[in-house]
Amino acid sequence: MSVKTAIACLLSIIAAIILRTDAAGNIITVYYPPDKTVMEFGLLNISLGMPIHAADFIEVKSNHGLRQEIVPGSENICFTFILEPGMNNIEIIASKEGKVVDTSVIGVFRRSDLISAYRKPPPGYVKSAFHSGDNEKCEQCHTLKPSEIDRMPLNLAQIKRDSKDSGQLKPASTCYSCHKGIMKYTYVHGPASVWSCLSCHDADAIPTYKVKVTDTEVCFSCHTEQKSSWYSKKFIHGPVNVGKCAICHNPHASDYPFHLNKPSWDLCITCHYEKRTGLHVLGDTFSSKGHPTRGKPDPVRKGKELNCASCHDPHASDFPHLWQFDVESLLELCKKCHGDKKVR
Ligand code: HEC
Ligand code: HEC
Ligand code: HEC
Ligand code: HEC
Ligand code: HEC
Ligand code: HEC
Ligand code: HEC
Ligand code: HEC
Repeated sequence: MSVKTAIACLLSIIAAIILRTDAAGNIITVYYPPDKTVMEFGLLNISLGMPIHAADFIEVKSNHGLRQEIVPGSENICFTFILEPGMNNIEIIASKEGKVVDTSVIGVFRRSDLISAYRKPPPGYVKSAFHSGDNEKCEQCHTLKPSEIDRMPLNLAQIKRDSKDSGQLKPASTCYSCHKGIMKYTYVHGPASVWSCLSCHDADAIPTYKVKVTDTEVCFSCHTEQKSSWYSKKFIHGPVNVGKCAICHNPHASDYPFHLNKPSWDLCITCHYEKRTGLHVLGDTFSSKGHPTRGKPDPVRKGKELNCASCHDPHASDFPHLWQFDVESLLELCKKCHGDKKVR
């Protein structure tokens, strides 16, 4: 290659770079969320604006390896993105005919009481209070005021009945058009499954839709049986005692039974890491291997896997160490599963 052609080649590369940066940018408008937003749960609503035909493909990805592909159909692009606990750096990449035309990056922090490192958002990160702001843009296509149906108070019996066939239910709720991501989870909590959102969120509160009462109060407003049963027990589990139901249960939905924030065993281990070996069950007397705490069928709760809750009540108990089965002594506990040859 001669010097001349090398220079020409270099110039054309520089020109291409200049042209490219010239063409790129200012295509994506992020209507929601603002950068440095704090969220509590796993679902983030994203709404973008983009001139028609400016891009033919949008890739959205986060630092947790989560990805979504969107083919833009109109000037307004709305979708739900999954958040992991902690920092989520969300990159939105718009391209046309295979070339990137614009990118946008948003930082969203998913707070979590369960993981101590994620309890506090980093400096500068705040909750968005979307519904307390001006959302004229969205109102071009969505109804943002709750309807009569949304405001209709449901009684517990009604929620119980309707939630059984919520799969078939076509929600009349105005909340559905934006918050329908909740229904994608396997386990949806009774009132959320029938879109009785306002049984917990107050439409007339400031900020709008604030949950006015504490975590426990809101839960026990319906779960009165559990309230009287648990609070009459001698021992109450630490997090229940301080009223943190949502540290373990997602109030809306999750992919784990009882809409827990993690599978049951993993949840317990998050706070009781040293118990994962099962050594604590047998102590030094029986074995140095430890008692199984998972991966075996539960001999008492048929059809379920053995886990920490096989032996401990996650909420409250009258017996030491929150033991299940109303047993007073260690030996009695063992007998519940090992007595009459339930397990060898
Ligand atoms: C040009 C019309 C239009 C505008 C403006 C608009 N949307 Fe949408 N949005 C839609 C349509 C259409 C759907 C799909 C509705 C459906 O399937 O029920 C949708 C769905 C959504 C969803 C659900 C996405 C999913 O699949 O989970 C969210 C969240 C959403 N919009 C948020 C917003 C927000 C926030 C704004 C304002 C910043 C907004 N939208 C503005 C038309 C619009
Ligand atoms: C135009 C779409 C849209 C509609 C319709 C809508 N929401 Fe939202 N909502 C959002 C967005 C966007 C957020 C921001 C947080 C997020 O990403 O979920 C939000 C946040 C919230 C929050 C958290 C507090 C806040 O203001 O940020 C609550 C609670 C809530 N919505 C409840 C409701 C209820 C109840 C309804 C129905 C009466 C409803 N929403 C209807 C888009 C919508
Ligand atoms: C059993 C009570 C309960 C019900 C029912 C309920 N929520 Fe919530 N929701 C909560 C609690 C508690 C929070 C956390 C509030 C806080 O952090 O201040 C919350 C927070 C939210 C948020 C903020 C999400 C985030 O990640 O920060 C949204 C959005 C929301 N709810 C939407 C809804 C919608 C839509 C419905 C109806 C399908 C609904 N909620 C039904 C209890 C409930
Ligand atoms: C508006 C009433 C209402 C409120 C408030 C409420 N729940 Fe529920 N909850 C229900 C109903 C209804 C069911 C379904 C029970 C049934 O079908 O028998 C349910 C079921 C549950 C279940 C069992 C799920 C399963 O798979 O068996 C858990 C766990 C639960 N709720 C936790 C909570 C927590 C935690 C809160 C507070 C954040 C809460 N609930 C607030 C009405 C409510
Ligand atoms: C330490 C975690 C943890 C906390 C905190 C917690 N739960 Fe639970 N909860 C569980 C687990 C695990 C299960 C499933 C137990 C099983 O496998 O049988 C459960 C089951 C339930 C059930 C269904 C079974 C039943 O006993 O009725 C309800 C309702 C419930 N929880 C409500 C609540 C409420 C209300 C609070 C707050 C006062 C709360 N939970 C706090 C872990 C927790
Ligand atoms: C958010 C943290 C957290 C989670 C999650 C959690 N625990 Fe606890 N647990 C505590 C605290 C705090 C205490 C009280 C301090 C102590 O006794 O160590 C406690 C105490 C206990 C005790 C001892 C009670 C006693 O009197 O000796 C048992 C047993 C227990 N937890 C079982 C469980 C089981 C089973 C799970 C899962 C369903 C679980 N924990 C999940 C925080 C947690
Ligand atoms: C087969 C029954 C069984 C299973 C399964 C089990 N435990 Fe235990 N756990 C016990 C017994 C028995 C004790 C009391 C031990 C003692 O007195 O030394 C206990 C005590 C505890 C204590 C309180 C004592 C202490 O040292 O602080 C905690 C916390 C605890 N278990 C957590 C868990 C967790 C978390 C799991 C799941 C990984 C689990 N356990 C699984 C039987 C069980
Ligand atoms: C909730 C039921 C349950 C309780 C309570 C229980 N176990 Fe077990 N235990 C099991 C199961 C399930 C296995 C696994 C059996 C298998 O391998 O198929 C097991 C296994 C064992 C083993 C064999 C361990 C190994 O690794 O092979 C010993 C020893 C044992 N248990 C002792 C005890 C003692 C001592 C107690 C009382 C402190 C106790 N168990 C309480 C369910 C229980």
